[in-house]
Amino acid sequence: MTRRGRIVLKLVAWAACLAPLAWLVWRAATDDLGANPISFVTNTLGDWTLRILLASLAMTPLGVVLGAAWPITLRRLLGLFAFAYACLHFAVWIALDFFFDWARMGEDIVKRPYITLGMAALLTLVPLAVTSTSGMVRRLGGRAWRRLHRLAYAAGVLAALHFIWLAKVGRTDQYWHAAVLALLLGVRLVHRARRASRRRAETRPAEKSPAGPLRGTVVSGDR
Ligand code: HEM
Repeated sequence: MTRRGRIVLKLVAWAACLAPLAWLVWRAATDDLGANPISFVTNTLGDWTLRILLASLAMTPLGVVLGAAWPITLRRLLGLFAFAYACLHFAVWIALDFFFDWARMGEDIVKRPYITLGMAALLTLVPLAVTSTSGMVRRLGGRAWRRLHRLAYAAGVLAALHFIWLAKVGRTDQYWHAAVLALLLGVRLVHRARRASRRRAETRPAEKSPAGPLRGTVVSGDR
């Protein structure tokens, strides 16, 4: 993809990620947040945190399925937007639900399992956001960085469970979100298994071949 193509792609992603926030600000400015504005704002921000997190997790499987590199360009951007929305969602809970009453917040985190899960999802995203810069990738080394960033899937699972736990009877969208996450995890696992078996297949003929390194060693050792 050309440099211009990458810039356009990122601009579209920025616009798509900022649109829900702009829509929420517009509804607040026009006094159109419904009968329970705090709940409306909390839930809207929670919904978009999960959607953008799933979108960021979809980039690697999408790259695999399409055989294209462009989805990877968007992975970090989407991950950081998911983190930003999670922080706003959390900030609303701190400021509007609990009015900065830290003791009661602590109790709520311990008492209500869905809050514990939400908190765990947010905390799992923190090291990913902190290490998202190119400098941190260099400092950690590619291998360690990739291993750390598998935590994004743990964050996805915790967030999906947070939603399943809090959803009222009669709702189904929490399961759709969990199903999308399971599909993304599935594609990734199949891809990893295929890559591992391809690697094994590539090393096997070299070991068996008469010109292979093993046979060479034995021959020279015999000499
Ligand atoms: C990655 C982190 C998180 C994600 C993806 C997330 C996602 C969600 C989702 C999808 C909802 C449901 C929205 C709906 O009903 O349509 C929600 C609601 C909610 N979340 Fe989170 N959340 C996260 C972290 C947190 C944290 C850290 C807290 C507080 C400590 C929290 C507190 C709440 C509350 C109070 C609700 C509203 C529950 C209700 O309506 O009764 N969430 N969140």
